[in-house]
Amino acid sequence: MVEPLQLAMLGGGTVGGGVAKILLGHADRITSRAGRPVQLRHVVVRDPAKTRPSIPKEIISTDWKAAVHDPQVHVVVELMGGTTTAKMAVMEALAAGKHVVTANKALLAEHGAEIFEHARRHERVVAFEASVAGGIPIIGALSQSLTANQVTALQGILNGTSNFILTSMADKGMSYADALKEAQRLGYAEADPTLDVDGSDAAHKLAILVQLAFGVTATLGDIERQGIDGLSAMDLRFAQELGYTVKLLAEAWLEGKEVALHVAPVLLRHTDMLAQVRGAFNAIQIKGDAVGEVLFQGPGAGELPTASSVVGDIIDIAVGRAQRTFAASKLWSGSPQGFVLRPSQGVKSRFYLRVLVADKPGVLADVARVLADEQISIATVIQHEAQEEHAEAVVPLVIMTHYAETGRFRSALDKLNKLPGVVSPGVSYSVDD
Ligand code: NAP
Ligand code: HSE
Repeated sequence: MVEPLQLAMLGGGTVGGGVAKILLGHADRITSRAGRPVQLRHVVVRDPAKTRPSIPKEIISTDWKAAVHDPQVHVVVELMGGTTTAKMAVMEALAAGKHVVTANKALLAEHGAEIFEHARRHERVVAFEASVAGGIPIIGALSQSLTANQVTALQGILNGTSNFILTSMADKGMSYADALKEAQRLGYAEADPTLDVDGSDAAHKLAILVQLAFGVTATLGDIERQGIDGLSAMDLRFAQELGYTVKLLAEAWLEGKEVALHVAPVLLRHTDMLAQVRGAFNAIQIKGDAVGEVLFQGPGAGELPTASSVVGDIIDIAVGRAQRTFAASKLWSGSPQGFVLRPSQGVKSRFYLRVLVADKPGVLADVARVLADEQISIATVIQHEAQEEHAEAVVPLVIMTHYAETGRFRSALDKLNKLPGVVSPGVSYSVDD
């Protein structure tokens, strides 16, 4: 009889529940794929009294240290979230000779270098397929199948909650608050959903992807980010009128030896493949110098899609594949190609700009002059007639620019906001054409 692979799972919430369902509900399939039985020995939670239909009561406990240090345990599966206890547990698990599987992108984005160095020192593995884009096998693709390529650009919808909110607002006319509540109910959102809607979660995932694609370490502070929390229904409607869909994109691309990157709401043409990704789905488009363009799409959050990636990692460890990939990939150990991060000021883009202006003679001319002074050329202007016809009327003025340098566009925006006819600060988004 082959010895079972014994697991201690830290966390029995949305993802942990899904992992238990797959391991216990499909034990024969998992044993056959792993070449040995895989046994869930401990599930550690905060509140043992909570109802957890997919997890047997007798393996639930609240002491993560005891579970991590159980000498029978081979693999610690970290599904608690957060960066404090989770970090301690992962570091102790590696030092105690256990392999680690985690879905925790915040932990890797913030402490990847320390954790991976520690894992290498103890000759253990950290497997993290579920940390980016839920059920899409993007980590495997970048660390195994696409390694013949130099990735030159990647562009992704990496936060399921934000995409669910944007789609629900645009397609069903749902309010932002109701759509967020529904995403939480469906198990897509982080314990603190601010991370989803302010762009931090997508930035954590982008940091992991640029590590794999370019060998570059980007901290959260290095990634300029803007979420969907400030996005208004008015801008979604104007974008629609102009032929665009708004998506929260995480993007990184190579310019010579520099990697430019950001997370932001971006206007995409309705016909763009990423514009058609709906609900909690994620998608990542990758350009490689040999393969050309490839697109990955699938469920980016939720119980079973995320658990699918976690269990895939457990099986990879059981058969020894993860150990070989981990040793070869040398992540968070410096940039072998010497790539560095590029400051965002020099990046060129088209821009959508919306300002609320007084409906008076000369205001449009003033706005146009400020843009012209910064060498920014206007492509389209929309100004609908004011509802009320009186001297104090205020109207939204929407401008699409041609390509301009981000630094010059920001400088124009600062000047515009000080014009006497501009009633509230301008709102702007990049446009990908
Ligand atoms: P969740 O539903 O909030 O579950 C977290 C679990 O961890 C709960 O069972 C909780 O116990 C337990 N826990 C938290 N802190 C603990 C502590 N200090 N000691 C013991 N147990 C503790 O979260 P989730 O959605 O499953 O997410 C887990 C991880 O997966 C996070 O890193 C998240 O970013 C990542 N992830 C989630 C998804 C998704 O779609 N949800 C997708 C990809 C990655 P109680 O149940 O008693 O509260
Ligand atoms: N909260 C995350 C999201 C979970 O909505 O994408 C998947 O990482």
